[in-house]
Amino acid sequence: MVWFTGLPSSGKSTLAGWVAEALEARGVAHVVLDGDEVRAALVPTPGYSPLARTQFYLTLARLAALLAGQGLVVLVAATAHRRAFRAAARRLAPRFLEVFVDTRPDECRARNSKGLYGQAARLPGAGVRYEPPLEPDLRAVGGATRAAVAECLRLLRVGRARRAPSTGARRRPLVER
Ligand SMILES: Nc1ncnc2c1ncn2[C@@H]1O[C@H](COP(=O)(O)OP(=O)(O)OP(=O)(O)O)[C@@H](O)[C@H]1O
Ligand SMILES: [Mg+2]
Repeated sequence: MVWFTGLPSSGKSTLAGWVAEALEARGVAHVVLDGDEVRAALVPTPGYSPLARTQFYLTLARLAALLAGQGLVVLVAATAHRRAFRAAARRLAPRFLEVFVDTRPDECRARNSKGLYGQAARLPGAGVRYEPPLEPDLRAVGGATRAAVAECLRLLRVGRARRAPSTGARRRPLVER
C-alpha cells in the first residue's frame, strides 16, 4: 500500500495517477483509491465531524488493506490529516509506504483545484490542522514530479517498463518481500 498524503491541492491524486500509469506500463497489478471517490461511494456519505473522519479513514485503510492482501499495489490518494490515521493504515497493510506530497500551503491555496480553500473552515490546512509525516518514506516536494514517480517505483522494487500501457493484458502481481 502506498499512501499519498499532503494538503488539499498538493498534488496527491496527480502523483498517484502517474505512478498508476507507470505500474500499468510494467504490468504490475494495482488500483487507485482516491479519498474523495471512496467517500462518494459510501452509504451513508461520511460527514466531516472528528468521529466521522476517524471512521472514514479507518474504512479507507481497511479497504486498501483488503485489496493489498490480494496482491494489488494499492495507491491511496487521501489527505488523512492526522498521523494516527496513517499509522492505522500502516499497521493494517502487508507493506506500507507513506509518500508526503510536500507542497507549500500558499502554493496549495493558489492552486485551489477544487475551490475548497476560502470556503470550508473544516479543510485540513485551513480550519483543521494537518499533521505532516515526521519520517515519510518519500517526500515529493512541490507536488507530482517525474523524479517522485521514479523514486516510488524504486521503493516498490518495480523495474523498467516492458511494454506500452494496455488494457486486458495479463497482469503480474507485485511480489512482496
Ligand atoms: N509539481 C507540480 N507543479 C505544479 N502543479 C502541480 C504539481 N503537481 C500537481 N499540480 C497541480 O496541482 C493541482 C492539484 O493537484 P491534485 O488534484 O493532484 O491535488 P490533490 O492533493 O489530490 O488535491 P485534493 O486533496 O483536493 O484531492 C492540479 O491542478 C495539478 O495539476
Ligand atoms: Mg485528490
